[in-house]
Amino acid sequence: MGKRKFRRLSPYGMALSKKGSGLGNGGGAGERRRFYRGSMQETLTKPKPEGNDADPKADVGTALRARGLEHLPNRRERMVKALNYLPVDRPPVWLMRQAGRCLPEYVALRRKHSFRDLIRTPELATEVTLQPIRRFGFDAAILFSDILVIPEAMGQSFRFRDNGGVEMESQVKDLADIRKLLEVGVSERLQYVADALKLIKPNLHNRTALLGFAGSPWTLANFMLEGGSAKRFGKARDLFLRDHHTYNLLAGKLTAAVTEFLQMQIACGVDAVQIFDSVGGDLPGAEFEAASGKWIEMIVSHLNGQVPVIVYSKGTRAWDALAKTGANVIGIDQGIALEEAERRLPRDIGIQGNLDPEMLINSTPVEVAAETRRLLELMRDRNGYIFNLGHGVPPTAKMENLEALVMTVQDFL
Ligand code: CP3
Repeated sequence: MGKRKFRRLSPYGMALSKKGSGLGNGGGAGERRRFYRGSMQETLTKPKPEGNDADPKADVGTALRARGLEHLPNRRERMVKALNYLPVDRPPVWLMRQAGRCLPEYVALRRKHSFRDLIRTPELATEVTLQPIRRFGFDAAILFSDILVIPEAMGQSFRFRDNGGVEMESQVKDLADIRKLLEVGVSERLQYVADALKLIKPNLHNRTALLGFAGSPWTLANFMLEGGSAKRFGKARDLFLRDHHTYNLLAGKLTAAVTEFLQMQIACGVDAVQIFDSVGGDLPGAEFEAASGKWIEMIVSHLNGQVPVIVYSKGTRAWDALAKTGANVIGIDQGIALEEAERRLPRDIGIQGNLDPEMLINSTPVEVAAETRRLLELMRDRNGYIFNLGHGVPPTAKMENLEALVMTVQDFL
């Protein structure tokens, strides 16, 4: 059982021999390592279309196993360390919207069940959460749900439009509508999320981190006042500028609901939570703190450091206000150079992102691998870097590009 020493090759033909001893984390002697130069597709066993993951090895990720990398440090440990700004062997990787329409196994399941059924049926939500873990061996799984379950639990349900986007059943228009929103009983009505988390957790065998999430009050207010998706959100900002008092009443109710919801997720054992402030960047910098940042800050402070918090505020460049939220990690979108974001944020805050999701559609695997490596190199000497995209995986992402991204991070030494 001697130490193994060999040059590692990425599937894109790059010799990866720096810090070669990083591999000495196990792996039995005589185990054959295989390198792939093409798509991993043929090496993937067909994921089970439904049901729970009974095989404790299954969550290791077919791709990692095929390359003999399953013995590398526990992925949950790696993610938790990075979230806590501790050194790691390589940055952990997960992707926003890693579960969903980019995966054929999701599309197959979705043919049989509505999105609503998928998120409201704990067994199905568990299956969909685990699909990307089985396929790619990500370091973290994210609960399969949606930010809009909060408005729904407050009395404003939603549906999907045939031509894309979401539509809320009703529109929150005025003070009277805001007063009607239910504050009490939100977590009881979201019991299905707790049930899903309780099922997901043991299926990760403590080897993959589990992330919970919620939308930010500002982002939820945008969807609620607009009555669904909009090309340009404007109503929440109008309300914020016109009538602070009424906006604050709505944001305050949402802050209470989101806090309660995240507390429930923490009680179910999530390792960290992410707050999605997807339309934070629609606010001019000077307004960000009052309309969004301070409500996020309130949520973070109520969570009291029980788990690390990732704040993803797309397009927001109000760095001081972002840091002031108390986030442990800030998610960075693709609209800014990673090195600039890194320069502008305090050194003790972790950074997540920011590979351009468009690359997954329009570039080649070699280009994706090169860009992934460039970002990893930029962050090489910084603790608390978590590899991710600048926004969610697009439904039309090419599988071979996702593979190139994941393998490049997993092979990074
Ligand atoms: O990241 C994950 O893998 C976990 C699951 C997740 C979903 N939505 C599943 C989903 C998460 C974290 C979200 C967050 C979410 N939902 C956000 C914030 C992140 C972001 O993308 O900015 C927002 C703004 C929403 C609201 C939402 N959900 C919209 C506007 C839509 C319709 C547009 C679309 O993408 O179809 C959704 C639907 C949705 N949420 C789908 C999935 C997998 C597609 C549903 C389907 O299968 O038809």
